Amino acid sequence: MTFETDIFQQFDKQWALLTAGTAEDFNTMTISWGGMGTLWHKPVVTVYVRDSRYTYEYMENNEYFTVSFYPQAYKKTLGVLGTKSGREMDKIHDSGLTPKGLPQSVTFEEAEVTLVCRKLFQQELEVDHMPEDVAKAFYEGMAPHVMVIGEVVEVIQ
Ligand SMILES: Cc1cc2nc3c(=O)[nH]c(=O)nc-3n(C[C@H](O)[C@H](O)[C@H](O)COP(=O)(O)O)c2cc1C
Repeated sequence: MTFETDIFQQFDKQWALLTAGTAEDFNTMTISWGGMGTLWHKPVVTVYVRDSRYTYEYMENNEYFTVSFYPQAYKKTLGVLGTKSGREMDKIHDSGLTPKGLPQSVTFEEAEVTLVCRKLFQQELEVDHMPEDVAKAFYEGMAPHVMVIGEVVEVIQ
């Protein structure tokens, strides 16, 4: 299982789709914050999801999630999936992406790379534990982020 990338660019510049659920019932949203590394001797991906996101409900209710990356040509599509909520509209149908059911989760045919992840740990980022400037910039009157760490069980490319 290998995935070669520049981790400081991968989330920040290329963005990703975070997807959870089953082929029959799932949701997806764009993310640009995340990490990849090692925990408990396992390859892991860390994502940060505000608990107000519709996708968060799917993250809560499913043991697996996927993080998928796309060619540049899909940047606009990712922009839309990152501004509209699946709670209000069928944004996935409108995006034109083709859902692809996996044994444990869901990704899209158009993905260049999909990391299939099993949830290992999650915790809310508490404002008391961060510098004041960060708390003010990102959390005043806003929903908290929940950090979710997933074991990468498969890399599909
Ligand atoms: C480039 C980009 C990056 C984003 N990164 C994150 C992120 O890391 N975490 C997060 O909670 N929301 C992030 N968002 C916002 C969600 O994608 C957005 O609120 C989305 O509409 C949620 O959809 P949902 O309600 O269907 O889950 C990002 C949006 C964009 C456009």
